[in-house]
Amino acid sequence: MTPAVAIIGGTGLAALEDLTIVQQKTVSTPYGEPSGPLLYGELAGRAVAFLARHGQRHTLPPHKINYRANLWALHRIGVKQVIAVAAVGGIRQDMAPGMLAFPDQLVDYTWGRPCTFFEDDLSHVTHIDFTEPYSPELRRRLIQDARALELGARESCTYAAMQGPRLETAAEVRKLERDGCDIVGMTGMPEAALARELGLRYAACAVVANRAAGKVPGEITMAEIERNLVAGMARVKRLLARSIAALD
Ligand code: HPA
Repeated sequence: MTPAVAIIGGTGLAALEDLTIVQQKTVSTPYGEPSGPLLYGELAGRAVAFLARHGQRHTLPPHKINYRANLWALHRIGVKQVIAVAAVGGIRQDMAPGMLAFPDQLVDYTWGRPCTFFEDDLSHVTHIDFTEPYSPELRRRLIQDARALELGARESCTYAAMQGPRLETAAEVRKLERDGCDIVGMTGMPEAALARELGLRYAACAVVANRAAGKVPGEITMAEIERNLVAGMARVKRLLARSIAALD
């Protein structure tokens, strides 16, 4: 059965154990290779596709991900809705490590990433509307289910998409804060815009891996990030099972 829903898994979610995998499909696209094969499976009784954004062995840094190939491949197999799971740093005080957050806005600070499908063989220039970068319907579903599960998730916030792969300086985080950003990650763009260009419903489920740079004394370590993601991803898995079962 064609999966109508896809999960893009980020750092800490390179595999989804609850997914009964029935098929792996390598999809070629006019934009090159996706991050890995699409895993077809069943979650909560529904057909879903899963794609590990950084590759199955977590080898692709954020700026090397072929976002266009990933989204195109999902679109090609018939996916209509995408839940994008992504690790972030928490800028706002209440964005504590391990928390889930569903951004409703973003600011794009990335550069040099192929960021549109609308650039070759154009009969006319196309500008997608991006006033609301995330699907309100899909966000509502996630928020409602997170409430029902009492996950204490943050329901409205602005995501800063940074280039990476390094983490930010403390001054950069202060600037992001002045810009109105609440969480910071490296993979949210151009992913969200490409999904919109293809007409996919797309929402992000962010998992706070650490306090953003300068928000607490000392360095941010990968060990700390990984530890917090374990707790956060356990919440994500519960949420996905419930939301996927309830999706249109
Ligand atoms: N900054 C950017 N991306 C991230 C962070 C961060 O602090 N933590 C996890 N992904």
